[in-house]
Amino acid sequence: MVTILPIASGKGGVGKTVLAANLGVCLAGLGRTVVLADLDLGGANLHTCLGVKNRNPGIGALAWRQEKSLANLLVETRVDRLWFIPGDNLLPGTANLEFFVKQRILRELARLPADFVLLDLGAGSSYNVVDFFLTSSSGLLVIQPEATSILNAYSFLKTSVYRMLFRSFPRASEERRRVADFVSRRVEGSGASFLELARELARDFPASAPPALEQLSRFFPRVVLNEGRGPKDASLGLHLRDMVTRNLGIPMEYVGFLLRDDAVPRSVAERTPLALSRPGSPFARGAAALAARIAAQPGGAPPRLFEDDEDLSGALEEAFRDQDYPVEEGPGEGSAGGP
Ligand SMILES: Nc1ncnc2c1ncn2[C@@H]1O[C@H](COP(=O)(O)OP(=O)(O)OP(=O)(O)O)[C@@H](O)[C@H]1O
Ligand SMILES: [Mg+2]
Repeated sequence: MVTILPIASGKGGVGKTVLAANLGVCLAGLGRTVVLADLDLGGANLHTCLGVKNRNPGIGALAWRQEKSLANLLVETRVDRLWFIPGDNLLPGTANLEFFVKQRILRELARLPADFVLLDLGAGSSYNVVDFFLTSSSGLLVIQPEATSILNAYSFLKTSVYRMLFRSFPRASEERRRVADFVSRRVEGSGASFLELARELARDFPASAPPALEQLSRFFPRVVLNEGRGPKDASLGLHLRDMVTRNLGIPMEYVGFLLRDDAVPRSVAERTPLALSRPGSPFARGAAALAARIAAQPGGAPPRLFEDDEDLSGALEEAFRDQDYPVEEGPGEGSAGGP
């Protein structure tokens, strides 16, 4: 069975693409067949990190029905067992996909003849990105050891849990309406937390809420800290886990700690992943350790979510766009708040 592994981040430029390329090389080195899919639809650049020319049709060809099967878009790389699907800066409009187009892409990704399909996503918490992230219960979230990155990652996970809960209920259901209302109330400053929403749903929808909340309890994002410099950075990362556990009630695991390494930008300029050119470098060693961990524990079953081709009046997106969320409950977190 294919394991789809999305790679996301709240903040841009934290190393998702570099990580995707290196993880791909390392997983292929462990004997797995890997497809790297460039789903950063506004700013596709995975081909640069891989050293593959960007002249093949990409995901957009599927989105706009010029191509029926993603398998026809696979591009060979210089690494055995490592394949690539280009993103698309070429076709206008690919950055904003309608829900049914996303569904088609996901259906096709799950059919690819591979052990792993790594999704290099765009930055931020737009629904496009979040929906791709939610194709796995345990996608990778990349952070850097700095306050803005950590707060953006928290924001991203928060949008993800609301979105997951929303999509755990069928279209036009009373439960969905309740989730949307709750979010609007939050926007108006009620300050109620996600856990209160969960309690409210459990109380008012005793038949339908438990399976949704049960599914949410299996949501298990895995965080990779990139550009780390020392143990102090690791402890900054733990702050994120505290916020996530306390306010969102979900677990989170640190699966990788990658060091800041001047060889990384050089490898991008050389268009060769470090795992190929300098496997002994600190970053490549960290990526190899992460790949070994992922190969041993590919991730749980994907969540079962209902479609969403209705407009949630933009409420969720509006609520969480470009916002940082300080800790909602409990004293003592003072200065962690964003602007
Ligand atoms: N561990 C590291 N040490 C030093 N530089 C790094 C490290 N990781 C990434 N970089 C550098 O950071 C820059 C951004 O990396 P990358 O493009 O992979 O980020 P991204 O998260 O994919 O960005 P975007 O959100 O724009 O897609 C690159 O120039 C890369 O060389
Ligand atoms: Mg990128």
